[in-house]
Amino acid sequence: MFPERVSSLKVSGIRKMFEAAPPGAINLGLGEPDIQPPEEMIRAFCEALEKGHNKYGPSAGIMELREAIAENLRKYRKDVSFENVIVTAGATEGMRIACETILDEGNEVLIPNPGFIIYGPDVKLAGGRPIEYSLKMENKYLPNIEEIKSLITPRTKAIIVNSPSNPTGTVFPKETVKALSELAKDHKLYILSDEVYNDYVYEGEHWSFARFHNDTIVVNSFSKSLAATGWRIGYVATSKEIVQQLSKVQYYTLACPATPTQYGVLEGLKVLDKFQAHVLEEFRKRRDVAMKKLAEIPSFTTSPVNGAFYVFPKYAHDMPSEKLALKILDKGVICAPGGSFGSLGEGHLRFSYANSRENISKGLEIVKELVAKL
Ligand SMILES: Cc1ncc(COP(=O)(O)O)c(C=O)c1O
Repeated sequence: MFPERVSSLKVSGIRKMFEAAPPGAINLGLGEPDIQPPEEMIRAFCEALEKGHNKYGPSAGIMELREAIAENLRKYRKDVSFENVIVTAGATEGMRIACETILDEGNEVLIPNPGFIIYGPDVKLAGGRPIEYSLKMENKYLPNIEEIKSLITPRTKAIIVNSPSNPTGTVFPKETVKALSELAKDHKLYILSDEVYNDYVYEGEHWSFARFHNDTIVVNSFSKSLAATGWRIGYVATSKEIVQQLSKVQYYTLACPATPTQYGVLEGLKVLDKFQAHVLEEFRKRRDVAMKKLAEIPSFTTSPVNGAFYVFPKYAHDMPSEKLALKILDKGVICAPGGSFGSLGEGHLRFSYANSRENISKGLEIVKELVAKL
């Protein structure tokens, strides 16, 4: 009755957990910071409404914000201008229009397994075929370059990468970013790089793929870095030619990104560094609490995490991740079943530490007591 590309879409396993959650449950399933955006940003948003910024804006976003984003990107690429940037309705829409823009019917796109849930559907909705590459604990959840090479065919158009990563919390070191970039160059592939957690790096450094490969399409967002998931503002940064095509697709998808929120984000960007310094300090402590508590659970193995705000332990219980997550939910703690991030996520749970240290500790104590009885 409905086309396969639509009927095959699944309801996210994470959403299912939220819907089944008892009142007062401790939420370690959150994919968003539990804090307010900077005050300056909220004030600027309200002022924008009062000043009459309530109309359609340009399809590619307001010029001031495109300029400000480009200015930020010039920290690592001197040749970036507003023409390389399109403002989007978050990374979700950014990734979607990027796939629409570059894919021909039947093109293959390499996507991570486990990986964030939108990549496969985005590729399919754009007429492409998602082909999975593995991220395994024994390889610190980093892509295996040889495996990726073996998956490339004449139909391959792009590789989707995500560092810092959801759900694994891995940050790709410079060598991995360089090696993947070289591979993409050799095979004339785009790199579609989801960098929404670029400001959440606790050790080491975030290496954008745009530093090493010209045909990179960076998808980013202010959802996480300015704690504004509900504002729906993000951006795509890439070549001028691709931005021009993206603007057309965006026009037919969205007309334009919301105008008043763009004025808010413009002010938010001015205080981003100060805001993030404070957030990072707190989130690093939360990460440490989560890792310490997880280490007390003998049936869980957790690889070190140095980015985003997730830990992704592997468990030694003979049970699908959804069943285990539901048992944990029954005791009042929300987490995400690893299987919702792909087949290789099975046997894992994803805990978010975007919650207070007290709740992380309490929640994981409940998990510890529950799994001890399994
Ligand atoms: C890896 C990753 N990419 C993209 C998104 C979507 O972000 P946005 O709110 O900008 O659409 C998320 C949200 O959780 C995410 O984790």
